[in-house]
Amino acid sequence: MKKLFFEMIDSTNAYLIDHYKDLEDMTFLSTDYQYRGRGRMGRTWMSEKGKNLTFSLLVKDPDMMKEYRSLSALSAFSIIEVLKDYGIADPGLKWPNDVYVKDAKICGILLEGVSHEELECVIIGIGLNVNEEDFDEGFFQKATSMKLLLKKETNLEELKDAVYQRLAENIEKMKRGEDFYEEIIACDYLKGKRAYCHIDGEEKPIEVLGIDHDYSLKVFCEGEQRNLSSSEVTFHI
Ligand code: BTN
Repeated sequence: MKKLFFEMIDSTNAYLIDHYKDLEDMTFLSTDYQYRGRGRMGRTWMSEKGKNLTFSLLVKDPDMMKEYRSLSALSAFSIIEVLKDYGIADPGLKWPNDVYVKDAKICGILLEGVSHEELECVIIGIGLNVNEEDFDEGFFQKATSMKLLLKKETNLEELKDAVYQRLAENIEKMKRGEDFYEEIIACDYLKGKRAYCHIDGEEKPIEVLGIDHDYSLKVFCEGEQRNLSSSEVTFHI
């Protein structure tokens, strides 16, 4: 295990992508400020300096890398477990890997892979809103933080250790063959919800049936059941 910290960096994901060859499996890189933080779907990830947890974890174990989808859900689930330990009630996993509390986003996760001939590494980038209180909210997305929910500051260093430990422990368990599916679907935030979803270039109404065993999302759409993969959809609830 290796932990790195930079006071400021463009993006912790970008750094690990550029340096993965020289770094060991499970290297953890955190920062106080990203000036080019990356979000899913090409969006920018904004986070107030020194207020939140902003980090990436490098996964180089080939057995884990090919479990890309379960690794993604497991990362969100690990954050959910830590949030519960800190006294936050009912955090949910909004497929594929956001964490929501009270219908607002508290954590975003971006998995990126590097492949040449083969997949060489997977980077799990996590932004968890901790002590920030003012968010520049998008039209469709409401944000929250631990401070807004708990009405008090959280010590970032202690939280960082707790998150790293939980992630490392859960990944280790997954390597040993432990299956987290039942625990993960118990906190499926979208299950049973009606949503609008951008599929095949069109906005379509769907009903969410829930996260399936392969971590795709089972939905009911235009009279039939379909399984969606994370790359093909954006949600508006
Ligand atoms: C999303 O919800 O769009 C995903 C956000 C992921 C943000 C984290 S912050 C640490 C890591 N480095 C990045 O540039 N992005 C991820």
